[in-house]
Amino acid sequence: MATINYDTRYPGVSDLKAKARRRIPKFAYDYIDTAIDCEIAKQRNRESFHQTKLTPRYLADVTTVDISAEVFGRRYAMAIGVSPVGLGDMMWPGAEMALAVAAQKANIPYVLSTFSTTLMEDIAEAAPDVCWFQLYVPKTLEATKELISRAKAAGFKVLVVTLDIPVGAKRNRELKNGLKLPFSFTPNILWQSMIHPRWAIEQLRRGFPDFVNMQRYRKDPDQGLANLVSEFTMPGVTLERIGEIRRLWDGPLVLKGIQYEQNAIDAMNAGVDGIVVSNHGGRQLDAAPSSVESLRALPDETRKKMTIMIDSGVRTGLDVVRGKSLGAEFAFSGRSFFYGVGAMGAKGANQVIEIFRDEITRTLQQLGCVSFDEMDATWICGQ
Ligand SMILES: Cc1cc2nc3c(=O)[nH]c(=O)nc-3n(C[C@H](O)[C@H](O)[C@H](O)COP(=O)(O)O)c2cc1C
Repeated sequence: MATINYDTRYPGVSDLKAKARRRIPKFAYDYIDTAIDCEIAKQRNRESFHQTKLTPRYLADVTTVDISAEVFGRRYAMAIGVSPVGLGDMMWPGAEMALAVAAQKANIPYVLSTFSTTLMEDIAEAAPDVCWFQLYVPKTLEATKELISRAKAAGFKVLVVTLDIPVGAKRNRELKNGLKLPFSFTPNILWQSMIHPRWAIEQLRRGFPDFVNMQRYRKDPDQGLANLVSEFTMPGVTLERIGEIRRLWDGPLVLKGIQYEQNAIDAMNAGVDGIVVSNHGGRQLDAAPSSVESLRALPDETRKKMTIMIDSGVRTGLDVVRGKSLGAEFAFSGRSFFYGVGAMGAKGANQVIEIFRDEITRTLQQLGCVSFDEMDATWICGQ
């Protein structure tokens, strides 16, 4: 049943976003909120979800609805998971661990970024049943092998390889704020931290966030963020490297960031188990189609042979249901969850999960659909 198990001062992700904007320093908020260039691709993601209409059906008892969803042999509580977000603790100290613990408790997937600020082994211990690992593919095969064997040894369930960052993005809000790693106090960053003392004191207490999984690959301890990313990762992941990764990882393998139809076919032919249709939250190419537009364009054969998932612009339970109607078995969001922890600290993790739980349940009830598994294209208006 739909129940409100969350703080009603922030009943939706948009309320958490507004609160996060006030509660944390501007450079931290901009880090999560910004997208590329004019931020049109980010906007397009939302518009495409809004434009997907579903027709309600009545004359059915919807006292109880089943919102659970299965992916890669596990039935999760619902079809929403936490997308990988690098430098997650920038939003709030301990954000990544809080989200991983909440995801384990709620039985939803938590995808840890290669560029996380918490050790991958610690996250796997905290979320043993629901942890997935996202890989930015290193330039060297040696580092690729090492990260995959660490993920395997730690017990990550699914490997998610991100394709859509061939090179680092130029994001203007980030450039203007001057955020760098290792963290350095420019006058702007110092001022912003001083006017948000709770955030600053807690960060000082824990030590400022850094890419802890990457320490061993750093040429020198002061190597900056952009520099480390471009030095470390492959500028355009090749199909050949995906083949090698397939041989190294025997569990479910997912490619994240697919938009082009032929790339979906390539993934299928490479023996990949699933794809996340995504434009990286509009953070890489402002001309990119929305994730919904790309999902609609997927070739039918790829839908039959792989698990199709979506992220980029998912903000409500209704969006998760819309994604399913368009053929995405599962949805993920980065910003929704990190706005939550920015707004409320560790408590925000559960707040976002409960909002999605309530909204998915109510959406199915409003539609007259008793089980998430039954949601399909026949519910789309104008299909
Ligand atoms: C601040 C930030 C950092 C991100 N870092 C990563 C990352 O390290 N690896 C990755 O695959 N995707 C990363 N992403 C993309 C997300 O995984 C996801 O695709 C995106 O957030 C989905 O869009 P949404 O934020 O609109 O839900 C990042 C996104 C944001 C906002």
